[in-house]
Amino acid sequence: MDIKRSKQIFKEAQTVMVGGVNSPVRSFRLVGGHPLVMKSGQGSQLFDEDQNAYTDYCLSWGSLILGHSHKDIVQILKKAIVHGTSFGTTTSAELEIAKFITKNIPSIERVRFVNSGTEATMSAIRVARGFTKKEKIIKFDGCYHGHFDDLLTKAGSGVANLSESSSLGITKNHIQNTFSLPFNDSQTFEKIVTQHKAEIACVIIEPVAGNMGVIPAKEEFLKTIRQITQKNNIVLIFDEIMTGFRSHIGGVQSELGVIPDMTCLGKIIGGGFPVGAYGGKREIMSYLAPLGGVYQAGTFAGNPVVMQVGLATLKNLTPSFYKKLNAFADQFAQKLNAFFQKNQIEAFLSHYKSMMSLRFRKKPVANYEDAVAASSQAKYSKVFHQLLRHQIYWPPADLEAFFLSGSHTQADLNVLYRWICDYFSKN
Ligand SMILES: Cc1ncc(COP(=O)(O)O)c(C=O)c1O
Repeated sequence: MDIKRSKQIFKEAQTVMVGGVNSPVRSFRLVGGHPLVMKSGQGSQLFDEDQNAYTDYCLSWGSLILGHSHKDIVQILKKAIVHGTSFGTTTSAELEIAKFITKNIPSIERVRFVNSGTEATMSAIRVARGFTKKEKIIKFDGCYHGHFDDLLTKAGSGVANLSESSSLGITKNHIQNTFSLPFNDSQTFEKIVTQHKAEIACVIIEPVAGNMGVIPAKEEFLKTIRQITQKNNIVLIFDEIMTGFRSHIGGVQSELGVIPDMTCLGKIIGGGFPVGAYGGKREIMSYLAPLGGVYQAGTFAGNPVVMQVGLATLKNLTPSFYKKLNAFADQFAQKLNAFFQKNQIEAFLSHYKSMMSLRFRKKPVANYEDAVAASSQAKYSKVFHQLLRHQIYWPPADLEAFFLSGSHTQADLNVLYRWICDYFSKN
């Protein structure tokens, strides 16, 4: 495959952008080989600067549930853009999408839009701290909530001590208030809350973890967390930035019937534009300025173009859309896992509906320790490059999820199935 222009552009990009990228995982450092420079997308297809086509399962990290350049998005964009791009005031577009979100996500009575998932989790935690007047937070090993200082903790750094940071440049002050506990471990959670309940402001969790492969939280675990947080004046925050609107119009919380106090959203609600949102019970959200004393603001927050594109995306997410996408995903996972089982291959597809990851062991994964045991950068790189050679674009990192969209066809999935099986038959 000729990627001459990708190489040229990336080489030049490295002279002016750090590592040639604006987000580290794009650099292909985890899989090796040469990063591709993409130029356009249509439906399930991505095209690089050399006009090579790839079936895209990264989908802007799960944002593009309708695929690339969906007709409704293009149409609304064309219409919206001629009326101005940013006003710095409330708009009716914001109102419409806010109504849609509060109607469908059970935990959100009041919402605030921001520009990224990171901003959403950071701000939700600030509100939770303001509301409870407590400072410590609990997160879970292997869950990613963006690059907010208080949440960049080293997974598996031990529960007896507060966490260590996973990045340079983060002061002890930030990390000293964060516990990182094992995912899906009710006992440890209960123990830590019993010891520190007077200091714990909130618990933040991905109800289906999507950043250590795909690992659904056990229902019993989420229910325990819900019960214990409720009893101890601790705000429960679901990070549904990846799962929100992916498999159900009401998020994972609606599917499981476990309703948090606050929820963070992002990705899908922007239809491919930068966005984040957080919301929750009216009582809690009223601590936020201008009503309350928790400050958070943004020049571009609730941008009118982004809000219109986001709403156009959400309006496509009908019950029949989800029924089809979820069934499509389940069938693919079943077929691939049957292949692995029949051929006694040390791999399985871990998935929650259309959010998927390939794990390099037979046993299911329940937490970060399992995720590490089931991961293999070397094997993943080989599969990744085999797929890339056959014009399939997967996330360039082992622990990232891959996704299906409404624009993928059975033919697309047959090709993916064929090349994954081909790899495992020969390796
Ligand atoms: C679950 C989850 N939370 C938060 C974030 C951060 O969102 P953003 O990259 O928009 O800051 C991500 C990003 O992938 C995510 O997957």
